[in-house]
Formats: sequence, C-alpha cells, structure tokens
Amino acid sequence: MYEKVEQSAEFLRQAFDGRAPEVALVLGSGLGPLADELENQIAVPFGEIPHFCCSTAPDHAGRLVLGQLSGKTVLCMQGRLHGYEGYTPQEVAYPILVLKALGAKAVILTNAAGGINTEFCAGDFMVFDDHINMTGKSPLTGANDERVGARFPDMCHVYPKALRDLADVAAQQCNVRLHHGVYVGVNGPQYETTAEIRMFRALGGDAVGMSTVFESIAASYCGLPVLGVSMITNMAAGITGNALSDEEVKQMANERGQTFRALMRKVIAVL
Ligand code: HPA
Repeated sequence: MYEKVEQSAEFLRQAFDGRAPEVALVLGSGLGPLADELENQIAVPFGEIPHFCCSTAPDHAGRLVLGQLSGKTVLCMQGRLHGYEGYTPQEVAYPILVLKALGAKAVILTNAAGGINTEFCAGDFMVFDDHINMTGKSPLTGANDERVGARFPDMCHVYPKALRDLADVAAQQCNVRLHHGVYVGVNGPQYETTAEIRMFRALGGDAVGMSTVFESIAASYCGLPVLGVSMITNMAAGITGNALSDEEVKQMANERGQTFRALMRKVIAVL
C-alpha cells in the first residue's frame, strides 16, 4: 500500500511542480464550483493518476485541483467516489492517503446530508462532532501497512475540537448558522426508511448521508485531522411526510451552494 500511495503522490508532485497543499478539501454536492475559484490552478483528472479510480456519479467532475484560495495552497478533490457506485471502501478512501502523502495538514470533508435532528432545517449546515459508520464496512479491512497507519487505530479523535471551533469562528464571521452533530454514514443508494431514520435518531444521529465515513476513517488512520461539514439538503425520511428525491437534494445544493462556498472560503482563511 505504501508503495502505491507513494507512486500516486510522486506523480502528483511532478504534475503540481512541487507545490505542496497546506489543506485538502473534498467537495460534495453544491461545492464543486469552488475548485474553479482557485488561483494559479493546476488540475489533474483522476484517470491520469496512477492507482486512482474514476467517479461515475453525476455532477462529480473527478479531478484534483491545486491552487490558492483565501491565501492558502489548497488541494481540492472535485468529485469523490461512493460505495453505492460499486467501489470498495478501500477504493473510496485511497485518495485520502495520497492527500496526506502530499503534505496536507488537514482535510475538510464536505457532503450533502439529510437532517435527522428535528431542530435542523433544509438549507442549514452542520459540523461533524463525530460519526456513526452504518455501512458495516471499513476501508482498513485487509493487510495493514504500518508505514501508512496502525492496525487498530483510535477513532476518538477523528474530528479535532480545534478545527470544529475554527469552523464556528468562520460561520460567525460570514453570518451562517452552523449546527454541530453526529453524521450517520450509510451505503445507499436508496434513501432510508422512516424506521431507519427513527433508529438513527435513537442512536444519536443528527444527519445521514452516503459518503464521507470511509474517507474520515482513512484520514484518521494515516494521521490527517478532519473537519467534516454537511449541507442539510433535505429533512431525512419520514420527518416531513414527503417522499425524498434526488431533485430536491440537487435543488437545495444549488440554492445554498453559494453560501456553502462562502463558508468554506472563510474556514480556509481562518485555518
Ligand atoms: N439520506 C441519505 N443521503 C442523503 C440524504 C438523505 O436524506 N440527503 C442527501 N444525501
């Protein structure tokens, strides 16, 4: 594994002319256009990078973009892989190991999520205080390479409080309401049943989505601190009585995308 990651990283070091990212950002729904704002940018399609898989999800461009944003050198993953596309948890999480090898000091993982906490509203934002992995799978399954991370890594400090506090400062500065909560990661692609959402609420979940947990686990494993931020694109199944649809999720992601991007620019500025 270590050799594979190093080969991917070495290819990217050359592609990026030796510029190293200070922070990495995985762009979820509504945030994709943020990569286009990077100054002096260099973009590399996933398909050109050794050992990377290509994304099949609609609206996911599938490229790494390095450039300047809010005064920092930022590496954006524009498009990500999901378990529901048929990728293994290892394939989904692989790019995270490469971000660490490239020198990123933290990774910001963003996504669209359904609100389980009834105090949330569609269009709100939530910082991950923690997550619950409901996929039943782990990206760390299989042989372990101690040069990348420990066999049995701790998961109590995936989302350092210092980063969550900075997100609060950024939200205050740009006047955005930012909740804190627990993200429940599911496989999808079907949305949840009403009973599943009731169960997730009883378990302590505040938002639910089909991404991010494999990336968070891999990041923590290889020593990369994570800031997780969800856009609550809809209330989760059964809460409003309305059927869930991808249309609703996409529409809200578009409507609130500009605010999400403003929040991320500010987070990177205060980081
Ligand atoms: N459930 C799962 N994933 C999601 C949702 C949801 O309600 N909204 C956006 N992504």
